[in-house]
Amino acid sequence: MPLLEIKDISIYYEDALILNKVNLNIEQGEVVCILGRNGVGKTTLFRGIIGLRPPTTGSILFDHEEMAGKAPYQIVRKGMSYIPQGREIFPDLTVEENLKLGTFITGKNNIPIRTEIFEYFPFLKERIKDKASRLSGGQQQMLAIARGLAGNPRIMLLDEPTEGIQPSIIKNIFKIIKDLNSKEGIAILLVEQNVDFALKLSTRGYILEKGTVVCEGPVDRIKEDSIVKSYLAV
Ligand SMILES: Nc1ncnc2c1ncn2[C@@H]1O[C@H](COP(=O)(O)OP(=O)(O)OP(=O)(O)O)[C@@H](O)[C@H]1O
Ligand SMILES: [Mg+2]
Repeated sequence: MPLLEIKDISIYYEDALILNKVNLNIEQGEVVCILGRNGVGKTTLFRGIIGLRPPTTGSILFDHEEMAGKAPYQIVRKGMSYIPQGREIFPDLTVEENLKLGTFITGKNNIPIRTEIFEYFPFLKERIKDKASRLSGGQQQMLAIARGLAGNPRIMLLDEPTEGIQPSIIKNIFKIIKDLNSKEGIAILLVEQNVDFALKLSTRGYILEKGTVVCEGPVDRIKEDSIVKSYLAV
């Protein structure tokens, strides 16, 4: 049985059907990408999984347990972390405070920030007392990933981690995500518009079009899809 199994979920905003019976699964330790153009519902899917926008129908089994209908904090405590599009770190808090928030979310009081975090993000140790707003965009993205890691997740939902990030930093982020998967065994569900980045990192993928999955399979098959070919040609 997959670590996360999404069956037939539908999500509305007001009367608009944004996700229409989406099915998706991810095994323990896998890296799976979700591709699709602007506005097809990728972020809505993540908000649905993490409980911020509960689906009206369908089921979300995480480690055999139903998540649909649960509150975000309950889902996070089960071992899921969400790194939102646009990072959403707290700019006026320090790096340390941002990381502490990542540990609080586990529901346990006063647990120290895991030292492994600084092995992946050594610069955060040097900047620990700085306000997050003083970090560069790429560093803020890494802080957002580090904050997610602070909750000791089994799966991470990463929404467009390369958006607005310069190429040299994208390489760092690639390596970090790869290592979090291979060394920490964290399953990665990745939404990306950077198709090249996503297909290099993943073994399987899904393509969303107007709220439905139109293609899924190993990355080799995804590369053959006409939608992806048109992206890759750009
Ligand atoms: N809070 C909201 N209220 C109403 N409609 C919304 C809301 N959030 C998103 N939508 C609509 O839902 C659809 C899907 O949006 P979503 O943000 O999930 O797309 P996306 O695939 O993540 O796009 P992008 O690649 O631009 O991030 C869009 O038509 C969007 O306008
Ligand atoms: Mg989005």
